[in-house]
Amino acid sequence: MIVGLPDHMRQRSAVVVLTGAGISADSGLQTFRANDGLWENHRIEDVASPAGFASDPQLVHRFYNGRRKQLLSGDVRPNPAHYALAEFETEWPGDYLLVTQNIDNLHEWAGSRKLVHMHGELLKKRCVFCGDVTPVDTDLSVRSWCDRCNAKGGLRPHVVWFGETPMEMDTIDGALRGCGLFVAIGTSGSVYPAAGFVSVANSVGAYTVELNLEPSAQESAFQERNYGPAAELVPEFFARVKG
Ligand code: APR
Repeated sequence: MIVGLPDHMRQRSAVVVLTGAGISADSGLQTFRANDGLWENHRIEDVASPAGFASDPQLVHRFYNGRRKQLLSGDVRPNPAHYALAEFETEWPGDYLLVTQNIDNLHEWAGSRKLVHMHGELLKKRCVFCGDVTPVDTDLSVRSWCDRCNAKGGLRPHVVWFGETPMEMDTIDGALRGCGLFVAIGTSGSVYPAAGFVSVANSVGAYTVELNLEPSAQESAFQERNYGPAAELVPEFFARVKG
């Protein structure tokens, strides 16, 4: 049962969940905007834009190599919020889609399968020449070769940078337009198009919920808001949804 939904929509309602960096904060990964826009001591635009990559590809590679190493170090693992979503997916009888802005793999690691990475994945690389996308668990550099087309210097992280189009937007839009419950978790609501998902969900009559450490930039658009660490709020909230 979803509290707040009209009776006829409570059972088997379609659920869309949006996650951001805050859900991985309890796993030890730093969020983006915690330090005045500085991210691991870099300006976001230097390491997360096509212009930044064009002007200093080695810096961008070093930055993502470091993040990949951290993710694979053994110190980072899913927290109860990731596991609660994976469990909910297996138990919920209605449609379900998890949309994450995160490039880490903690949702899959916890068991989520109905998942789209709208900002790409840290553990994949892409060749800018032939478009080949393949898994990567080692460092990339300007000297790396593409296994498919053999071109040198064209490999980049398979992530979406500022100014680029997010992935899977048709799938996401379709799910939002059919959902009865939309839940945003651990996102500041400052980056579009994800920041606008709550408005789409409201426009189709969905019940909209924010679970975050603090009020986000989209706070007033949500019908229900709960504040605290995701590792606590998410298991509690989805237990309530399941009834
Ligand atoms: N539990 C829940 N929420 C948390 C926690 C926590 N333990 N810790 C932090 N938060 C919240 C913060 O209060 C903040 O509102 O998570 C949010 C994280 O916001 P951002 O750092 O802006 O991350 P996100 O919203 O995912 O950023 C969106 O911006 O830089 C780009 O592409 C990048 O996907 C990213 C996008």
